[in-house]
Amino acid sequence: MSEVKKIAVIAGDGIGPEVVAEAEKVLKKTEELFGYKFEKEHGLFGGIAIDEKGTPLPQDTLEMCKNSDAVLLGAVGGPKWDNNSKELRPETGLLGIRKELGLFSNIRPAFVFDCLKEASTIKPEVLDGTDLVVVRELTGGIYFGEKFRRESEFGEEAVDTCAYNVMEVERIVKQAFEIARTRSKKLASVDKANVLESSRLWRETVNRIAPDYPDVELEHVLVDNCAMQLLRRPSSFDVIVTENMFGDILSDEAAMLTGSIGMLSSASLGEGSFGLYEPVHGSAPDIAGQGKANPIATILSVALMFKLSFGYQEAGDLIEKAVKDVLDAGHRTGDISTDPSKALSTAEMGDLIIAAMEK
Ligand code: IPM
Ligand code: MG
Repeated sequence: MSEVKKIAVIAGDGIGPEVVAEAEKVLKKTEELFGYKFEKEHGLFGGIAIDEKGTPLPQDTLEMCKNSDAVLLGAVGGPKWDNNSKELRPETGLLGIRKELGLFSNIRPAFVFDCLKEASTIKPEVLDGTDLVVVRELTGGIYFGEKFRRESEFGEEAVDTCAYNVMEVERIVKQAFEIARTRSKKLASVDKANVLESSRLWRETVNRIAPDYPDVELEHVLVDNCAMQLLRRPSSFDVIVTENMFGDILSDEAAMLTGSIGMLSSASLGEGSFGLYEPVHGSAPDIAGQGKANPIATILSVALMFKLSFGYQEAGDLIEKAVKDVLDAGHRTGDISTDPSKALSTAEMGDLIIAAMEK
């Protein structure tokens, strides 16, 4: 009998509950197939928590996450809360949970499913072989630096500061080197060292750590150039490590290369094996509650959780293979379908993936 793993499940807003329901079916199926035991607890977070508890990150949700082995998150946010004050915005909850749980590393894989190449806006020959990971620093930089307003000669002025210390850079860069070691041993460190002081410290730190990883080929790429190279030669990248805001932007760009943001999963990690897993896509309020959402990104987030937090490699591989088999057989949800009349519902896609796991 394997040990019980505690999973905090946060469905969130918009399509969150629909895609999380499918991921929970996958969890159940792996319990049946592998004899795992999962103890799930559900909590409120994001817009729904603002409505029901008056705060995007209620204390009991935070405690639930802290007492768990991993968190599965759907999506948060929506137009309903867009004009709220800062404290009452779902995004504030997201930044808060990252900081409170010490999740300094955000891992966003972007790879092209061969059978979905036509769904990308990029030419197929440019996409060939694209399989990269953006490792984004998640609890520092301009997101968390001092922010304030002041009067200036020319009217009100707003200030955001970007600060990084050596420890913050070291821990994320070491993790990126380790990840590169498990892949094709290539690391691109992305910064703006020709302009920013925080980037110069970043680059110095990377260069100081690099000799510990002589087997990993390192390149420094300026962020503007990286944005360009991602479109020109995406397959030449393997692991990209960068600071918080650059990573926010570049990971969206990388996601778009693949044709469907509905397919991509992500992990946010701290020092130990604990992690928060979520689809890269947002809450898609326009299609919420209609059973149209693609559950694959959330299901693949479960696979990532198995591999990175629980060491359940075989079950993670099985989920990924089931997704591939279902796609290869031509099954599509609306976001990746060329024939909308044949598009599957969220639950139909989930059921097919579970069935494919049995074979
Ligand atoms: C992301 C999102 C968030 C971020 C927003 C919603 C605060 O864009 O997870 O990439 O900027 O980190
Ligand atoms: Mg983003």
